[in-house]
Amino acid sequence: MTAILDSLKYEHSMFRRYLDLFDGEMDRFESGRTPDYELLEALLDYFLSFPDEWHHQKEDLVYDALSKRSASMKGRLSDLRAEHVRLEEGVRKFGQHIAQLRLGSDLPMTTIVTAGRRYSQLLRRHMLKEDDVFFPLADECLTEADWEVIRNHVETAETDTDQSARLTAIADIAERIEEIEVE
Ligand SMILES: [Fe+2]
Repeated sequence: MTAILDSLKYEHSMFRRYLDLFDGEMDRFESGRTPDYELLEALLDYFLSFPDEWHHQKEDLVYDALSKRSASMKGRLSDLRAEHVRLEEGVRKFGQHIAQLRLGSDLPMTTIVTAGRRYSQLLRRHMLKEDDVFFPLADECLTEADWEVIRNHVETAETDTDQSARLTAIADIAERIEEIEVE
């Protein structure tokens, strides 16, 4: 398994850990308790930035390379790029609900929880498909030359000033989540 796939899998494990915390906050909402807004907003900041600004970009590179290599892929994988867009829309919608709530709107709790749970389930299902089908297929079908092209793209992006600032900001958010968790 290549370093790129290893990093994607590691990022999935982080997403799952943070989704567990996120689901815990949905449980609090549902049972009528006040959520930990500091944690919920840090989690939202994370899911609003990291998947779209980095993780999905790397997956899209792998997906595009695989589209060219594997004729059978289309039947075995749904359009991951389209799912990445849907996930982003889902977390944005949830974020808007939370922002409205914080501004004093009387949005029903069920609206918030439904949007939150829908996002969490969508992301979990999406990751399962990637872990079970997409990554093994990429590992099997992509050539060393394909991985080299992907690696170059990733390395170029990492050294881009704007992207590296975004990655630093994301690392700060993750640190904030860890700090809140141990408090
Ligand atoms: Fe993923």
